[in-house]
Amino acid sequence: TPTLAAAANRTGRYFGVAVAANKLTDPAYAGILDREFDVVTPENEMKLDATEPRQGEFSFANADRIVDHALARGKEVRGHTLLWHSGLPGWLQNLTGAALRQAMLDHVTGVASHYRGKIHSWDVVNEAFVDGTSGRRRDSSFQRTGDDWIEAAFRTARAADPGAKLCYNDYDIENWAHAKTQAVHRMVRDFRSRGVPIDCVGIQAHFAGVNPLPADFRTTLSNFAALGVDVQLTELDVEGSGAAQADDYRRVVQDCYSVPRCTGITVWGVRDTDSWRASGTPLLFDGRGEKKPAYYAVLFAL
Ligand code: XIL
Repeated sequence: TPTLAAAANRTGRYFGVAVAANKLTDPAYAGILDREFDVVTPENEMKLDATEPRQGEFSFANADRIVDHALARGKEVRGHTLLWHSGLPGWLQNLTGAALRQAMLDHVTGVASHYRGKIHSWDVVNEAFVDGTSGRRRDSSFQRTGDDWIEAAFRTARAADPGAKLCYNDYDIENWAHAKTQAVHRMVRDFRSRGVPIDCVGIQAHFAGVNPLPADFRTTLSNFAALGVDVQLTELDVEGSGAAQADDYRRVVQDCYSVPRCTGITVWGVRDTDSWRASGTPLLFDGRGEKKPAYYAVLFAL
């Protein structure tokens, strides 16, 4: 029987999934994971509150379980994420200015060097731009240390793990006309022109009624790729069900495949019941682990 990973590998791409460490002991869950996917993203276990719950005291046990599981089976790991405005522990929220900037960079060094040589791509910075039409940076603790916090994070990550591809990751940057998409594109172009180490852009691709798959998605992908970076769909899920959902999934794969530097797709969870979404059936396997129409649509499009 074909699998998602095997189908994706025919064009040199990968097919990945977000996983939770505490589900690895569920045989149905692990069975699908091990069979279908060749890249794994820890859903929460590498975030700052999980890996550095107290300043300078790192905690890698849960993330290590996922990384070990993946590497032992010949899979690769997307590191998610070194710096994000959400999920910040209290100790970090109490810091400002130079102390916060240093703590931020120490975090990047601590986590990236623990996993040095084991990570395919790092989401170095996640969701740093605000929604809406301003195209501005999102206000956050990190942003208040100065506009250059993102490039400082990328340089620090490169020094800590020179072999990992370094990505900027965000949502609602699928639509080319969107101000946020334009702002991220400008930042990546600026980084490339000044030699700030960035290798990839992660597009989350959480599609729903409020964020439908745009007709110009492939334009966005090719415009990012034209900057000399890879693009990856990092958190794909699609609200809906049945044939309509399957059709959206198929179009997403076709859009990725229209761009040579769209190098891989990750879905944000194994079964519908594993999804982070509060309701609905956004993934490729139902709660019983059966393949949905969306699964077959993806498989045949890969
Ligand atoms: C989500 C996880 O899926 C949830 O389990 C957690 O409670 C919150 O974070 N964008 C991201 C991901 O970059 O890290 C988020 O993951 C989903 C939105």
